[in-house]
Amino acid sequence: MEKYTFPGDFVWGSATASYQVEGAIREGGRGESIWDTFARKPGAVYAGENGDVACDHYHRYAEDIALMAEIGLKSYRFSIAWPRIIPDGTGKVNPEGIAFYRKLCEELRKYNIAACATLYHWDLPQPLEDAGGWADRSILSAFETYAKVCFQELGDMVDTWITINEPYCIAYHGYLRGFHAPGHRDTNKALAAVHHLNMAHGIAVREYRKLGLQAPIGITWNLVTPRPATASAADAKAVTYAMAFDTDVFTLPCLGRGYPELVTKDLQYSFPVKDGDFEAIAQPIDFIGINYYAESPVAADDSAPHKFTYKPSWHEVTAMGWPIVPGGLERQLIWLADLTKGAFGKAEIPIYITENGCAYNDEVSADGKVHDRKRIEYLQQHLAVCANVIQKGIPLKGYYVWSLLDNFEWSYGYTKRFGIIHVDYKTQKRTPKDSAYFLRDVIAGFAEW
Ligand code: FCB
Repeated sequence: MEKYTFPGDFVWGSATASYQVEGAIREGGRGESIWDTFARKPGAVYAGENGDVACDHYHRYAEDIALMAEIGLKSYRFSIAWPRIIPDGTGKVNPEGIAFYRKLCEELRKYNIAACATLYHWDLPQPLEDAGGWADRSILSAFETYAKVCFQELGDMVDTWITINEPYCIAYHGYLRGFHAPGHRDTNKALAAVHHLNMAHGIAVREYRKLGLQAPIGITWNLVTPRPATASAADAKAVTYAMAFDTDVFTLPCLGRGYPELVTKDLQYSFPVKDGDFEAIAQPIDFIGINYYAESPVAADDSAPHKFTYKPSWHEVTAMGWPIVPGGLERQLIWLADLTKGAFGKAEIPIYITENGCAYNDEVSADGKVHDRKRIEYLQQHLAVCANVIQKGIPLKGYYVWSLLDNFEWSYGYTKRFGIIHVDYKTQKRTPKDSAYFLRDVIAGFAEW
């Protein structure tokens, strides 16, 4: 048995996202989002499922927050649904939408749970997609206004702000590979989306500073920092392409270093950059969030559009088919701390794991419990990495498990259960899984396994 220690002020949290948990899509004056539309396209989501009801968190948030408190969670990372705040994307602000998130934050306060709000976790108002979505520069002024409204109306209640969740998935799954909303398959649109997402992040931070708000603000990335599939020089080179295309196009501009030459020169891709854009993107931020689930090896592939391809790993996989590679988390944290050292004139930039977790086919057993042994093992392995890197001096300040609840897993619908709390979608009954009790012990200081 090993004992792990975490600093007393380590932030233990759980994460969700509006479209995945809220439901109530036609209530409270909410407008339509691209996920409402996408989910209705035949074949887009498993079994035609959608987020119409999801976990009904919109009505059951108080019950869910009480469960967080029982587990001992100190922070709740949720996302704000843009179509609840500004239903048409631009124009009229919806007071009911603001009231909902204020009530949610007030409920969190009752239990001393910090509110960590993400401005954008993928549910774009449909009218903005109709105007070109993230591929069109007009989105920037819309996002600026939306961000400002959120900061002004919720700034007194939110303890941590995240601008955008996983620009990689938005740009590449949504605009390049088409298996997420809005479902485009277009390289130019995807590259434009990359740039506009980077811009939107910077613009939101700039707006935030203008308002003089004090809570920390950052961004959440899902990064790849992969290992090569073989010892060949070609695979080593492929890793640099994967890093450039999947990671550096997001990290480097935000750190004031522009787009990587491997992408702009070697691969000859161009981003719709205008004068002053790089300055706008590279706003000093207070922390970086990373979502880490898995790591796959990379191999050279000249026939692939970007000269690299991800290969299956030898590691055991979760129900998503994602290989379990805790060592990849350690490598990524060390790499990121090194990359960001000295950025924005600061000695170090705090890092948060804003999502980590796994899906398994969890069921409620005859004893009324959910024995999710595999999830506990996954969490143990990744939390051991966290404790170890903190010992090494990596500025890792918190960990949010994905997810609080089983929820709508995008194109997989409800088939993939990531929660530490089981949700019976027929009855909306919540059952904390064994992993929730495991996490409760860890948070209470009994981190031993
Ligand atoms: C991440 C998303 C999150 C969830 C997990 C499993 O990419 O941010 O919403 O779907 O994957």
